[in-house]
Amino acid sequence: MNLFGQVFAGKKVLLTGHTGFKGSWLALWLKQLGATVYGVSLPANTYPSHFQLISPECNGTMLDIGNKDLLQQIVTDFSPELVFHLAAQPLVRLSYQQPTDTWQTNVMGTVNLLEACRHSPSVRAVVVVTTDKVYENEGQRQGYMETDPLGGHDPYSASKAACELVVQSYQRSFLQQQGILVASARAGNVIGGGDWAADRLIPDVIRACQQGVPLLIRHPFAIRPWQHVLDSLSGYLCLAAELLQGKCSFSTTWNFGPSPEATQDVATVLSEMKKFWPELIWQQDQSTPVKEAQVLTLDSSKANTLLGWTPVWDFQRTAEQTALWYQAYYQQQQVISMQQLALYSHSAKQQGLAWAHTYN
Ligand SMILES: NC(=O)c1ccc[n+]([C@@H]2O[C@H](COP(=O)([O-])OP(=O)(O)OC[C@H]3O[C@@H](n4cnc5c(N)ncnc54)[C@H](O)[C@@H]3O)[C@@H](O)[C@H]2O)c1
Repeated sequence: MNLFGQVFAGKKVLLTGHTGFKGSWLALWLKQLGATVYGVSLPANTYPSHFQLISPECNGTMLDIGNKDLLQQIVTDFSPELVFHLAAQPLVRLSYQQPTDTWQTNVMGTVNLLEACRHSPSVRAVVVVTTDKVYENEGQRQGYMETDPLGGHDPYSASKAACELVVQSYQRSFLQQQGILVASARAGNVIGGGDWAADRLIPDVIRACQQGVPLLIRHPFAIRPWQHVLDSLSGYLCLAAELLQGKCSFSTTWNFGPSPEATQDVATVLSEMKKFWPELIWQQDQSTPVKEAQVLTLDSSKANTLLGWTPVWDFQRTAEQTALWYQAYYQQQQVISMQQLALYSHSAKQQGLAWAHTYN
């Protein structure tokens, strides 16, 4: 079942970060929608990786986006209509260990990509993926809105906020005049099958269960907006579809978070996971943790009102589908990403969500 009709069929789409968790799912989805996808990333840095498991789905080049000349060459040669920018150093704790590299990739990598786009006449729309962490975090329980101030304490969050300023500046200074529509998209804490990154809750759960060791949890009561990877990607795709139709006023910032019931603490996610892995034991990590925000929630009413976008899977379904993916992988040696994409598409249609019927 296809949720986006012919919008992406036959389109050339450049996707940075295609070897990563979210990028590999997006590559899969875009291929299913009939797009010709070309990826630019570093090689997958986990083993296993979702990209390696689905790798025939996407052509691409392994390139550091710091290499602006080669990046320009790739964009010119491939001549995409649409660009999704997901390549980033996305980990908070690693950003404390490698602040320079984090700033370099997240800020200058974005500059290099937008610079390449503005010199490529084929490009019509660019979606830059940032994060819920771009907001100045005051510890408020009310969801952050697109109009709230940018900020960021740790190098990851601050570099992503700076990336948003880069996007805004390129839009105002260059892209707007050239008719290229650029927007930035902020999703929540994304979970789903195929993530094995360090320092992330679900991959940490999987590793602990596979090794039969207790899981050390830094912040069991930290609250996050948990969402399935397909729910973040459906938001990006809705946005891209509108940009491709030339909606200039959509060339701005967007939140794509889960519904409020999915904003839960870490301990609640662990309870959901324990239903699938009864052997899971966790205990609080007593080492001095680096600063991480305790409460983070997103308000997605703008995407709801203007794009008709709402998430498809609630918290329980998100946790369930995530657990089932890893169970299929470890117990049946199966990669069920395509089946889950079909299930997600079916759920969206069945729920009668506005966006799931817009493009057909
Ligand atoms: N996973 C989440 O919960 C989450 C939440 C909000 C936002 N995001 C954002 O979504 C995007 C994708 O995140 P992810 O979870 O898939 O991360 P990931 O670590 O799985 O993937 C990162 C991708 O970026 C690429 N990359 C990193 N440095 C690069 C460089 N210098 N040059 C070229 N490519 C480089 C990697 O090769 C990989 O393909 C990131 O921009 C991240 O900030 C993720």
